[in-house]
Amino acid sequence: MCRSEVECRDDIDSFAPGLFALFESLKLSEEHKSRQKQLVDSLAKSVGKEWHGARLHLYGSCANSFGTAHSDVDVCLEMEIGTESTVEVLLKLSDVLRADNFENVEAITGARVPIVRMSDPRSGFSCDICINNLLAVANTKLLKDYAHLDQRLLQLAFLVKHWAKQRSVNETYRGTLSSYAYVLMRINFLQLREPKILASLQAMEPTYTLTTDSTECAYSDKVDQLQDFGAQNKDSIAELLWGFFQYWIPPRLQARRHLHSHGEDTKDSNNSTYSYNFLCDFMVNSKQEKNWTTRVGNDRHLVCIEDPFETGHDLGRVVDRQTIRILREEFKRAAAVLQYDDDPCVTLFEPYDYEN
Ligand code: CTP
Ligand code: MG
Repeated sequence: MCRSEVECRDDIDSFAPGLFALFESLKLSEEHKSRQKQLVDSLAKSVGKEWHGARLHLYGSCANSFGTAHSDVDVCLEMEIGTESTVEVLLKLSDVLRADNFENVEAITGARVPIVRMSDPRSGFSCDICINNLLAVANTKLLKDYAHLDQRLLQLAFLVKHWAKQRSVNETYRGTLSSYAYVLMRINFLQLREPKILASLQAMEPTYTLTTDSTECAYSDKVDQLQDFGAQNKDSIAELLWGFFQYWIPPRLQARRHLHSHGEDTKDSNNSTYSYNFLCDFMVNSKQEKNWTTRVGNDRHLVCIEDPFETGHDLGRVVDRQTIRILREEFKRAAAVLQYDDDPCVTLFEPYDYEN
């Protein structure tokens, strides 16, 4: 049964097998995983020649269970860099990689997290490499642990990711949301289903902690003890997919619940927000406190998505007035397709680019 103020169609579950088959087809093959390993091995060899003590961590979708065939490989090098700056290390790394025949090597040093981007002709993957970004390693583990809690998170994740890529709304450089932001939105949605499908791992007694720079990453990673947590909820993947799109398209008249990153489940009394925010704010402790109510430089905070650990970081800050409208239209279209279309498993994922 749907428990939203909008009811979903009676035959929604008849689309579950089609969606499940699509999910299965998006999962990574063993061959893909072995090519990924090949890339990591050759990268480790190149890096080891110059930096003997460097540790190589995979992060992002190649390590958090949410990777698809189109995902890149994200690598973090953990190393002592002494008096050199991160940018100097990245420039040196670029030279090392070029000498070892990696292709399209480019140091992107002006980004919030500076990286070297390159492609590997042997494995066919493109790869982003950052230095000492252990926060990303910690949030990758958090997402992976969430993925172990309930299979429906993975199913929903793959389907929404496929939709977002097909509809061109997964491109931060054009003002839409990152894959990481979408994963957090899906986790939040499943935490607030009735009955709940996912627990809030950050709200439980921490069994994993990592402090990096000034940020403390702490949560319970005892996911084996939570395997039955969502069992009372019998929602099918079709119902959840519809619910996900429906959930994020206010305005709603009633107060809306937010699951804060530190666990309190509260009502938001500021209903007026939703009269102009068509995608809801997510996991926000206090927008006032964070100064997320007004535009600061390029950060507009039209959609607020609080990072689970770096709580002062708004993952929605890339969204502008034009792209919030595009996102709103795409979410509305997706909910409507699942509600009314005769063949939603096809129509939902029809390719579209709002600029063409
Ligand atoms: N990340 C982050 N803060 C952000 C964006 C990303 O910490 N604002 C980190 C997260 O660890 C995330 C990783 O960078 O998992 C990769 O981000 P992204 O490319 O958005 O996600 P992927 O899951 O790798 O998506 P894709 O499969 O599309 O590559
Ligand atoms: Mg990635």
